[in-house]
Amino acid sequence: MRAHLPLVGKRILLCAGGGIAVYKTVELLRLLQKEEALVRAAMTRNAARFVTPLTFEALTGEPVYADMFADTGGDAIRHITWADWAEAVVVAPCTANLAAKLACGIADDAVSTLLLATRAPVLLCPSMNVNMFRHPATQENLERLARRGVAVMSPGQGFLACGWSGEGRLPEPLEIADRLKKLVSPRDFAGKTVLVTAGPTHEAIDPVRFVTNPSTGKMGYAVARAAEHRGARVILVSGPASLPEPLGVATVRVKSALEMRDAVLALADEADIVIKSAAVSDYRPENPAEHKIKKTEGGVLLEMVRNPDILLELGKRKRSGQVLVGFAAETQNLEAYAREKLEKKNLDLIVANLVGKPDSGFGTETNRVVFLYKEKPPETLDLMSKEAAAHALLDRVLAAGRA
Ligand code: C5P
Repeated sequence: MRAHLPLVGKRILLCAGGGIAVYKTVELLRLLQKEEALVRAAMTRNAARFVTPLTFEALTGEPVYADMFADTGGDAIRHITWADWAEAVVVAPCTANLAAKLACGIADDAVSTLLLATRAPVLLCPSMNVNMFRHPATQENLERLARRGVAVMSPGQGFLACGWSGEGRLPEPLEIADRLKKLVSPRDFAGKTVLVTAGPTHEAIDPVRFVTNPSTGKMGYAVARAAEHRGARVILVSGPASLPEPLGVATVRVKSALEMRDAVLALADEADIVIKSAAVSDYRPENPAEHKIKKTEGGVLLEMVRNPDILLELGKRKRSGQVLVGFAAETQNLEAYAREKLEKKNLDLIVANLVGKPDSGFGTETNRVVFLYKEKPPETLDLMSKEAAAHALLDRVLAAGRA
């Protein structure tokens, strides 16, 4: 079974403007191809002075549209055929000049003509000198384009190739690919609030030591990102994790199970869907030391007490229509233990996965999951990326919400 991923098979037109950041467009192209998108490239005359069309041609295996009057091998109206072919258009880098032309409807070269002719959604990734970006003309043009429904990314901050520092960096290719996924995803979670928990918890022994587990938060972050792509308002309550915060997601950072409980209970009533993928520590040291415990001869006995079970509490106060999803990571008796939790915690769905395998579980890029339902037989999925598993889970959550 192959789960749906947003960019697989999508026809993406990548347009490059004439800025120094165009070398990063090559990386973006590779990234989109890794996501199995079908990419064609167009460039302005100035972009072709920074990186030659041959680079894009070799990588896409297609001609590059740079000159409207060059021989296009019988495809004389390429500005229309390509504009119609595209399911989404990305402009990276989008120079001040390109934004101005699009805002005014000027079509005087291959890229600006394609942009005027296409009916596909457009993502602009501005990149320019900070003063050019802040110029009222540029700001007005970008605002006007945003009002027209064009997706406009904020440029990154930092050291610019021109020597100035400030806003103007081309957003990172990973961020551009992320926003593109949102642009092409179905908006089947629009109007829904999804609360996701992720990562491990740290249970303090003393100010510099804690009890934890190997969870990295990858699965929960993937769920939060996928739900945001599909139009949900997403709140992510994250234990200590070193992953970048998902774009467009309100992330609340906590350390311990007790902090996670407070954050989740305060937010749960707003949520239509709660997905608890955090690996919450079941126990915490009873009396964490105020100061660092000094080494002495002999051992240390750590007295542990039970943490509250957050999901159990949520299950008890679940309101009608709310969908509650739990995760069960086990090293043995996976389905039996997971079913027990499903019932005990009053869940609609539980995602069970065997941990301790090289390709599934903590920290891996892929996951092998089993979905267990209250009144349906379990469903075992093939090994897939955590992103694909997240989308597969969201498909089931939607179905559970409709039931
Ligand atoms: O610890 P257990 O295996 O029962 O965890 C299963 C589910 O319960 C997970 O979804 C986890 O996030 C949640 N949980 C929780 N609070 C705890 C322990 C687990 O919400 N203290």
